[in-house]
Amino acid sequence: MKNDESVIILDFYGQYNQLIARRVRECNVYSEILPFNTPIDKIIEKKPKGIIFTGGPASVYADDAPKCDPKIFDLGIPILGICYGMQLMTYTLGGTVLRAEKREYGETPVNISTSPLFEGFENTNICLMSHTDFVSQVPVGFEVIGNTSNCPIAAMQNVDKKLYGIQFHPEVNNTVKGTQIIKNFLFNVCNCTGTWKMSSFVQDSIKTLRERIGDKKALCALSGGVDSSVAAVLLHKAIGKNLTCIFVDHGLLRKNEGDEVENIFRNQFDINLIRVNAKDRFLAKLAGVTEPEKKRKIIGEEFIRVFEEEAKKIGTVDYLVQGTIYPDVIESGLGKGATIKSHHNVGGLPDYVDFKEIVEPLRDLFKDEVRKTGLELGIPENLVFRQPFPGPGLAIRIIGDITDDKLNILKDADAIFREEVANVGLDKELNQYFAVLTNLKSVGVMGDERTYDYTIALRSVTTSDFMTATWSRIPYDLLEKISSRIVNEVKHVNRVVYDITSKPPATIEWE
Ligand code: XMP
Repeated sequence: MKNDESVIILDFYGQYNQLIARRVRECNVYSEILPFNTPIDKIIEKKPKGIIFTGGPASVYADDAPKCDPKIFDLGIPILGICYGMQLMTYTLGGTVLRAEKREYGETPVNISTSPLFEGFENTNICLMSHTDFVSQVPVGFEVIGNTSNCPIAAMQNVDKKLYGIQFHPEVNNTVKGTQIIKNFLFNVCNCTGTWKMSSFVQDSIKTLRERIGDKKALCALSGGVDSSVAAVLLHKAIGKNLTCIFVDHGLLRKNEGDEVENIFRNQFDINLIRVNAKDRFLAKLAGVTEPEKKRKIIGEEFIRVFEEEAKKIGTVDYLVQGTIYPDVIESGLGKGATIKSHHNVGGLPDYVDFKEIVEPLRDLFKDEVRKTGLELGIPENLVFRQPFPGPGLAIRIIGDITDDKLNILKDADAIFREEVANVGLDKELNQYFAVLTNLKSVGVMGDERTYDYTIALRSVTTSDFMTATWSRIPYDLLEKISSRIVNEVKHVNRVVYDITSKPPATIEWE
């Protein structure tokens, strides 16, 4: 299906490239990102219905500026150049690009004229501008179809040749109706029909993975989280029993979660699954450790040791499957600032496992697309929509040292919290919510008895990116019910508090 109707996104090192691909997918058109220097024959071979040039940080006049084969403009295939892409189109076709004194950045009203690209738009539209160079003269045959107060040529077209350029970024949310511009390009200019669906992604991926892996063997570390689960099921559909999943249960998962994971993968999907019950081993290593970063380090390292030991029993495998998704790629690509928390993900790359190649089937997808893929694959909704859960698990939700008793207290309290939230249907609304076992004991009274027991803190946040978050305004009645159930049903807890701190200044987890 993808060859029937695909659009090529030519990558000039823009930071929003995947976002462009995603927008195209949202319009039900298959897209593929290729490097800017892809040979023209290869592009022709793919018979694209359209080509999109991405933005990029270079100036067209720089010696090492990324450039594509100029013959691309003679193929008769519609092209949309975004930002740098528009400048490159201009430069290659004989127009003029100049350097502005100062960078134009921000959401800017763009005056627009009639164009197939702007069908359904008013005369002005707010668009995200982010550039220093600008087009000062369009190439012969082009007309100007957009300007801003700072930028005389913010959009241009050559309708006969189906070449379009826009200085702003339609792929980001800051551009109002940005997706409509992409849609107009796809449907009005490229004549796409929009038949591609997420199910096509699943079918295409299975086919490609099958071709790539053949009858060789692959290994996957399953954490019970959404990404590794979707990657594993996708691989399983492609290569069946040649995939082995290793599920290292460190004993720090939520109540019953280890069994749920095992049940889904072993019984529902009939996947080759090795579950390693390593709780004792992890708890022994963690005994007496109170420092959060040290906990993370121990768990991360121990996870890899256990995984390696199991992998060694299988022998050499050809492929190691990773559930990397696109936001992980951006994060590692752009690097992080100061380390607030090391965020050691269980499922990180083991150093000493013998494998030849890594397979990352979800590398181009955003989280919601991974979820859609999961549903397509028949993974149960409660796993697909599972809230994020840190690799080190409950270890970083028990403040101070970790013992089996404390783990059980926390698991029970957390299960009550989750159950009550789900009962009132708030589970899809709150982005992350959990109980924390504080290291604080306080005096209480139960019946006629004095108690001296633990305090449970409830934490719930609303966020889209988890970089910043606000505490959730959970109804008092619900908080009351949860609190009363926890103190009544969970032994050794006599007090429940609700965390009303946003991030920043707090973080989502307590450790
Ligand atoms: P913080 O606490 O930094 O959390 O505001 C942001 C998001 O990251 C998760 N988190 C982790 N995830 N390993 C993980 O895989 C970790 O060590 C870790 N620490 C925090 C946290 O649950 C939240 O979703």
